[in-house]
Amino acid sequence: MTEIPMDYRIGDNAYLAAGKQEGIETLVNRFYDLMDSRTDASSLRQLHPDSLDRARQRLVWFLSGWLGGPALYQQNVGNQSLAMSHAQVAVTRDSMQAWLDCMSQALQDCGYPQSFHDYLMHRFTTPAHSMLMMAEYQARPTSTTPSFSAV
Ligand code: HEM
Repeated sequence: MTEIPMDYRIGDNAYLAAGKQEGIETLVNRFYDLMDSRTDASSLRQLHPDSLDRARQRLVWFLSGWLGGPALYQQNVGNQSLAMSHAQVAVTRDSMQAWLDCMSQALQDCGYPQSFHDYLMHRFTTPAHSMLMMAEYQARPTSTTPSFSAV
């Protein structure tokens, strides 16, 4: 089938290209199933609770609004940024790469056009790197506090 050129940045084009709610649910389920089964994603999986139900639901809500569709995350959770929701997550280079690899494979498995795959991967990479930088910053050795015990 010939691919129809589409500017995914405009309006709800990305939401439509994803297949609206149903498409996003399929994508998110594939993503978490891959995270749950790929051995190279074990460091990422370990950061999550045993049940992935909450993460699945919230990523569906998030992607809906993020792609230009209904703002379900804001409606159901509130105005929480990705930085806030990941502030307590000890993201490592390995787990960040696993997140991106699972998402890349999920997009391919769902049969999206290459242009949509590349567009989304480009968009996911920026917040993923910010989360890593934030986690590395938080994990940095703190400066030595002066001790007065010897005084
Ligand atoms: C950089 C690598 C990433 C790691 C290691 C990571 C890890 C996690 C973890 C551990 C949770 C908590 C799951 C739970 O408690 O059920 C979570 C939640 C979530 N993640 Fe990520 N994540 C990453 C990247 C991303 C990216 C790039 C996005 C979207 C662009 C994203 C979207 C979300 C959303 C929407 C939630 C639910 C937040 C909430 O609690 O309301 N994550 N993530």
